[in-house]
Amino acid sequence: MIKKLGIPKEVKKDEGRVSLIPEHITQFTGLADIFVETNAGLGSGFTDEDYQSAGAKIVPTAQELYDISEIICKVKEPQEQEYELLTSSHVIFGYLHLASNLSLTKMLLEKKLTAIATEMIMDENEYPLLIPMSKIAGNLAIQKGMQFLEYSSEGKGLLLSSISDERNSKVTVIGCGEVGRSSIHKSVQIGASVTAIDVNENILNELKNKYGEDISTHISGSDDAIAAIRTADLVVGAVLLPGRKPPIVITQEDINQMEKGSVIIDVAIDQGGCVEGVTANTHSEPFEIRNGVIVSAIANLPGAVPKTSSIELSTNMQKFVDYLLIENWFEEYNKNQNLKPSLQIHNGLLLSEEVAESLSLSLSKLV
Ligand SMILES: NC(=O)c1ccc[n+]([C@@H]2O[C@H](COP(=O)([O-])OP(=O)(O)OC[C@H]3O[C@@H](n4cnc5c(N)ncnc54)[C@H](O)[C@@H]3O)[C@@H](O)[C@H]2O)c1
Repeated sequence: MIKKLGIPKEVKKDEGRVSLIPEHITQFTGLADIFVETNAGLGSGFTDEDYQSAGAKIVPTAQELYDISEIICKVKEPQEQEYELLTSSHVIFGYLHLASNLSLTKMLLEKKLTAIATEMIMDENEYPLLIPMSKIAGNLAIQKGMQFLEYSSEGKGLLLSSISDERNSKVTVIGCGEVGRSSIHKSVQIGASVTAIDVNENILNELKNKYGEDISTHISGSDDAIAAIRTADLVVGAVLLPGRKPPIVITQEDINQMEKGSVIIDVAIDQGGCVEGVTANTHSEPFEIRNGVIVSAIANLPGAVPKTSSIELSTNMQKFVDYLLIENWFEEYNKNQNLKPSLQIHNGLLLSEEVAESLSLSLSKLV
């Protein structure tokens, strides 16, 4: 049976990404009717005509898109204005980050729909839908950090890039996975003095081998690690415990000890944040100042570069959308160990152990 797949226009503040680009929907012909909300791709440079040429039908409003579609293929988690559009007949497919969002989780449970958290899809022991966005976010963390260090942003007026052979600025990166490694690479490239912090010694050794004298490495929580946070010009927080709330790795005391005008970028804010007391910011109101230190926590950093991000996202997403279009997709999804962790809510049941634990909700099992 032909499925009905809907691509809404994202409504999160300053979000210009779209889940699937025109080039990638042509392969679904014959398996699904594709509906696209008008202007859904505009922020990423794709027009309604581009989608029509690829075989999609353009729908004028979000209400009509949700009414007509069974599968809602999104980028970000549903925003409050989208809650009323969702019904029990929907399968929602997108980044959900439920472990830090009780109200969204409760709403999805009450609606009795099916929710798939794409950030939890696995392939060859990796998270293919998280990785490209993490690489982009790691780059943007340094780009934003450089901007916030400027005098007009109330930063300390320091150029992160080196203009001589000396490395005169200090960047500390906590959590050296995909985000962290991108931030480290960019920081080394521009000539900053870089400290990498992680709980995993092997990761730190690999970084030391790769960058040699250009980098110092410390185990998270050690005295040296804490000192590297407190003396940095720019700190990037990029820790992850998959599916759970991240640990606090930057405390208020660390902030109090940092030089005024220094910058912290909490990239882990999409999972709840790794800076003590952090609250989410947006691209248009990107930071708050705490004890003279600029603290920025933007949950959709890749939304700043939607053209780049949508192409990367769609390239990786298309393969997993394919799984949803087969007849007995639910049984297949539930059987597949790589896909199962992403199947987090179904018919009023919470199926993710990590989300249940993080939000103190009851875990259910499918019978
Ligand atoms: N804000 C955004 O727009 C955005 C975009 C992409 C990813 N993210 C978030 O960035 C974070 C990192 O993502 P990733 O893809 O790099 O994850 P990853 O799994 O590749 O890396 C996470 C790293 O954190 C380390 N870690 C765990 N606990 C730690 C601790 N206590 N101290 C130090 N290190 C610790 C792990 O060992 C690992 O190396 C995640 O929370 C992810 O959701 C945010």
